[in-house]
Amino acid sequence: MNNSKEVSQLDVVTVLGARPQFIKAAPVSKALAHVGLREGLLHTGQHYDEKMDAIFFRELSIPFPVENLRVGSDSHGRQTAKMLIGVEDFLRKSNPALVLVYGDTNSTLAGALAAVKLGIPVAHIEAGLRSYNIAMPEEVNRRMTDHISRLLFCPSDHAAENLRTEGIVNDVFVTGDVMLDAVNAFREAAFLRTLPEGLTRDSYYLLTIHRPSNVDDPDRLACILRMIETLDYPVLWPIHPRTLARLDVSKLPQNLIVSEPLGYLDLLNALGKSKALITDSGGMQKEAYWLQRKCITLRKETEWVETLEGGWNTLLPPGSEVEIAAILARTPDSWKPLYGNGNAATDIAANLLQFLKT
Ligand code: UD1
Repeated sequence: MNNSKEVSQLDVVTVLGARPQFIKAAPVSKALAHVGLREGLLHTGQHYDEKMDAIFFRELSIPFPVENLRVGSDSHGRQTAKMLIGVEDFLRKSNPALVLVYGDTNSTLAGALAAVKLGIPVAHIEAGLRSYNIAMPEEVNRRMTDHISRLLFCPSDHAAENLRTEGIVNDVFVTGDVMLDAVNAFREAAFLRTLPEGLTRDSYYLLTIHRPSNVDDPDRLACILRMIETLDYPVLWPIHPRTLARLDVSKLPQNLIVSEPLGYLDLLNALGKSKALITDSGGMQKEAYWLQRKCITLRKETEWVETLEGGWNTLLPPGSEVEIAAILARTPDSWKPLYGNGNAATDIAANLLQFLKT
């Protein structure tokens, strides 16, 4: 679909552009098609490398975007501004009944802001998350997006409660997390894959780091690497491009096995067979939980507070005095389901259909 006549027949335009949003779109786009809603994906181009973008569309059978704005990397203000112009132009010609956005990236904010300025209602999936750390770009994006959205889909009661304390009470739905739908849909296929050479099940850790607060400060990044060096098993590290740009890969600890960013299936496989995850990602804290792997989160706070209960996830801000080995040695409490029952996308599609019919 790429001419204006077809684009004008869309019910829903979904604005997305960064890796975690492609994963979230996989179950939701399928559920929207199932209830007969005509959805078009507008890709901002925030992520554009093969391993950060195209591989997800191929592996997860996500519908091909109707347009890609190819905004690319830039400072936050310039990147968001370019997206705003591109999204507005697209919405003017497509004039959908609703705009859908996911999560908390610059693409989320640009999609929501462009839509609301044109009077188009916005639905926000993964609404109500808070770190209460305004220095995080994501915290700004998610707060602003929640406050201009018409429909808010929350992964947990806690997220809905966060919205309530900010005065957002209408059309808030607790649906569970669409990332759980994705894990359930793809885990079986993922586990058939082989691990990178030299790694065997339960005999390595998985590491991911990309937050500006961890990688933009050379001392902090060096501090993380010194901690990794103390670990008793090899550490698989798929390196995000932002992090790679700040590293001298010839001077890394010996126990690190580095790779390019992994596609979703290889990542789920590597996570599900690891001893534990060490990360600053939001989504991966939950994926580790659902796959019953311990997680150490290299931050001082998390939006996904439920994962901290029972010791499955532990916050370890880089530079802290606590020994990583001591955390890894602890046995977590018994596991219980979190963030819904894996039917979030179906629930969201039913709610959107209901909204658009009335
Ligand atoms: C973005 C999101 C973050 C999310 C993450 C997932 C914002 C503010 N941040 O962070 O919430 O967790 O995506 O990965 O929206 N780059 C490439 N190729 C790519 C993409 C990025 O080389 O395909 C490099 C560029 O040098 C770029 C840097 O990575 O400047 C950062 O990319 P950017 O999209 O600005 O933010 P992320 O750090 O990926």
